[in-house]
Amino acid sequence: MKIKEYEPLFQDFPHLLHGGDYNPDQWRDMPEIINEDFRMIPLANCNAMSINIFSWVMLEPSEGKYDFSFLDSIMDRLHSIGAKAVLATPSGAKPAWMSKAHPEILRTNSRREKELHGLRHNHCFTSPYYRKKVREMNEKLAERYKDHPALLLWHVSNEYSGECHCPLCQEAFRNWLKKRYHNNLQELNTAYWSAFWSHTYTDWSQVESPSPLGETAVHGLVLDWKRFVTAQTADFIRNETEPLKRITPNVPVTTNFMGTYPELNYFELQKEVDIISWDNYPAWHSGNDEKTAADIAFVHDFNRSLKDQPFLMMESTPSVTNWHEVNKLKRPGMHMLSSLQAVAHGSDSVQYFQWRKSRGCSEKLHGAVVDHCGHEHTRVFRDVAAVGAALKKLDPVAGSRVSAPVAVIFDRENDWGIGMLQGLSKHNRNYLETCQNHYRPFWRAGVNVDVIDSTCPLQKYKLVVAPMLYMLREGMAEKLRDYVKSGGTLVFTYVSGWADQSDLCCLGGFPGGLRDVFGIWAEETDSLYPEDSNRAVIGQKSYRAVDYCDLIHAEGAEVLGVFGEDFYKGMPALTCNHYGAGKAYYIAFRDTGDFLSDFYKKLMDDLQLSTATGEALPIGVTAHTRETRDGRFVFLENFGDTEVTVSLKNISGKNLLNGNTVEKELTLNSYETAVIYEKSKQE
Ligand code: GLA
Ligand code: ZN
Repeated sequence: MKIKEYEPLFQDFPHLLHGGDYNPDQWRDMPEIINEDFRMIPLANCNAMSINIFSWVMLEPSEGKYDFSFLDSIMDRLHSIGAKAVLATPSGAKPAWMSKAHPEILRTNSRREKELHGLRHNHCFTSPYYRKKVREMNEKLAERYKDHPALLLWHVSNEYSGECHCPLCQEAFRNWLKKRYHNNLQELNTAYWSAFWSHTYTDWSQVESPSPLGETAVHGLVLDWKRFVTAQTADFIRNETEPLKRITPNVPVTTNFMGTYPELNYFELQKEVDIISWDNYPAWHSGNDEKTAADIAFVHDFNRSLKDQPFLMMESTPSVTNWHEVNKLKRPGMHMLSSLQAVAHGSDSVQYFQWRKSRGCSEKLHGAVVDHCGHEHTRVFRDVAAVGAALKKLDPVAGSRVSAPVAVIFDRENDWGIGMLQGLSKHNRNYLETCQNHYRPFWRAGVNVDVIDSTCPLQKYKLVVAPMLYMLREGMAEKLRDYVKSGGTLVFTYVSGWADQSDLCCLGGFPGGLRDVFGIWAEETDSLYPEDSNRAVIGQKSYRAVDYCDLIHAEGAEVLGVFGEDFYKGMPALTCNHYGAGKAYYIAFRDTGDFLSDFYKKLMDDLQLSTATGEALPIGVTAHTRETRDGRFVFLENFGDTEVTVSLKNISGKNLLNGNTVEKELTLNSYETAVIYEKSKQE
């Protein structure tokens, strides 16, 4: 199903969604509580509730015996109050009777231990029986509710994750490998460099998934296993969505991702859903809120970029989580700010886990809209209702798009490659954090950024930043070359261009296949102990270099800075090469923040990347834009703890949140957001 550009995600419900996970089946024997829910959902300004996520045993209490009566009543009641259902398929938690009768659905871990029934999110993703049951269940749900006016969106399963190493999965893995390597074992052996330690396979049956008891040293195999886990999860999702797409072709499908969950490649999984959604649980007030905000902004941008269209924040907490190291309350104002932050980055919803706190089990202390006290007269409920009221004012935002002049490449397969490496330092590879460090200067400047992977097109960006792109996946070197040649600006760092898509090292000097584009050769990498440092002397300034320093030679590139210490003093620390119509920068060291901030500030000026406001922003304030066909929304957010005045050169319009006309400057309280709508000037 295609989401049309600039149109709301839901044609017949052109609103921002507000609501969240609602688990009335936990309260089935207390109808007075459920009555209260339906009294209070409108009071909280909620319009969309995610239901049925963990309801399998209620729907099918014993094999083949179904009972949809309770779900019917919840669907009807949602409709009766004008709310919509984000209707889940219940595969995220299997019933105990099913595990007992069909133990093949239980997972086997990498130590080849069969797991017992318990917890959730742990079915075997190959089991034909489980797949059949899921398909049957989903077919029943789709048939039953296809014409129900409350049905808005399918929420398949919950937070797909994990892997299974049972015999069925081993067989599926081998079949997947046969396809990948054209039924040619020699091709696999070549890709795996398998003569190493006599690891050559002479029959397909010898290939097994990685295990702490078995293989971990053949990196090509480990990488392929991770790819398989994503592919098998995608295949499982296809099995789930087949009846939904067939019976309800006009109802979009989503599944809730987990931010930058490292074990799945979301750029692959995104193909299986119509709308991206993700669950967002930052640890606010755990130190530096400005940093937390920028790091979360990166994750929002990643999720938006997966499909380059608006996404949904499917879960967040209205107050606290129950699983952080310290579960601190959101300070007054933070709930509004962090909720609108999602919208600023492209979310068309603010959804929560969960509506009402559970009475028992492990999530009984997780924040919820309705606390155990059971009424609406709480700080959290008031905060939630206020967010709902704000979202109503922002309805015109629904469907608007984000356009970004900058892309940061954050590639999952590259992450796997870096994670597996033996070498460098053990504990500070920090690939995600490095990408976030390169992202932060743009966030501070109020410049929109896409967070993409190696499979995405590059031509629309003025600047592409690819930190630690250790692995150049198939075709990537050529793609980067073309990008620079045709006028793009590309930034690489230390530890880049070392390996290909099979994790085989590039021969002929790093960065593999791109030496002439960067005009450098990276000969060695120095890993520093935490107490070590070097200096990069760039212009009049000297920056601390930590963790990794590449020893590079200029082969045509202009040297913009050199190392200041140690035996490689005087060797290039920063270079720029003109290639074709573009430029390629190589940063040969990891810095501690100051350098990236100066470097990208200059680059933004050079490339005339327009910031939303046209002026520098005060510390703690950021600005992001969403576009419509004939105008744009400028979100200004103050994550700082003091009032600030923001000067606005580029913007004038109306702040949709308070109706005030804004021109020249704007005062923002601590934690305040303004959303200014501006009509396009040329109209
Ligand atoms: C995840 C799950 C929810 C709930 C929350 C708690 O996001 O999807 O069911 O467990 O975590 O934070
Ligand atoms: Zn399995």
